Amino acid sequence: MKTLAEKHNNDNISAELLKQMAYNEKMAELGRISAGVVHELNSPLSVITSAAQMILRESDVSEFVREMVARISSEAQRLSQMTRGLLNFSRQDEATEETDVNLAVEFILDFLAYEAAKRGVTVLRNLDYHLQTVRMDSNLLKQILLNIIMNSLQAMEQDGGKLLVDTFAPKDGDIGISIADTGPGIPDDAMTKIFQPYYTTKKPGEGTGLGLFVTKTLVENMGGRIEVRSRRNKGTMFSITFALARQG
Ligand SMILES: Nc1ncnc2c1ncn2[C@@H]1O[C@H](COP(=O)(O)OP(=O)(O)O)[C@@H](O)[C@H]1O
Ligand SMILES: [Mg+2]
Repeated sequence: MKTLAEKHNNDNISAELLKQMAYNEKMAELGRISAGVVHELNSPLSVITSAAQMILRESDVSEFVREMVARISSEAQRLSQMTRGLLNFSRQDEATEETDVNLAVEFILDFLAYEAAKRGVTVLRNLDYHLQTVRMDSNLLKQILLNIIMNSLQAMEQDGGKLLVDTFAPKDGDIGISIADTGPGIPDDAMTKIFQPYYTTKKPGEGTGLGLFVTKTLVENMGGRIEVRSRRNKGTMFSITFALARQG
């Protein structure tokens, strides 16, 4: 039997496409309201943190209780930091600021820790802490990292694997970020297509094919370059470089 939606389906638009559009729209709407939800989480979390601090200031608390309360407090603070980070990341207004690339990488890797763990992926960070800060919109940088890293994790869906994220200075003062995975690689004939809008090998709901198109456009608008190297059954490496000298 046909569903109500199928019976009334406009001939111009396939049921599959409609399903995908409805899903995308739902996710976008969820994204918009999640800022409010995150905001709501912050008040109970600060109540927990300050109550825990008050208990810790009492003199007649046993060592065991002290330890447990200290854990409650530090977990509440971790959650609150994460939710504030999310709130900040979800903002749409443009803000060019001195950005620490390593902090952006760490934020996204913490944010995706669960996505990596559930696929059995080991994440390795190799960050150069001598990198200069760079004037850019840190939320755009996070969006770039999110898409590339999420693609890598999705590529390693089957049997675990390794994700290696490096930051480095290709030349003095320049900034480089590379993201390497041990996934199945990208076939030669797809290498030119991956940056085209709507090219995807994923099921509806898992990918739109817009990620790398948006990512490449953002990187280039920010004065950077994006490159990809891939070997079948070995893995894929995306690298992004920003030549700061040229930005003046
Ligand atoms: N790390 C990777 N390993 C293997 N294939 C990849 C990787 N990154 C991207 N791809 C391929 O490029 C396609 C396009 O990626 P993207 O533009 O982000 O769209 P989406 O993730 O929605 O499919 C993916 O569907 C996938 O086939
Ligand atoms: Mg993607």
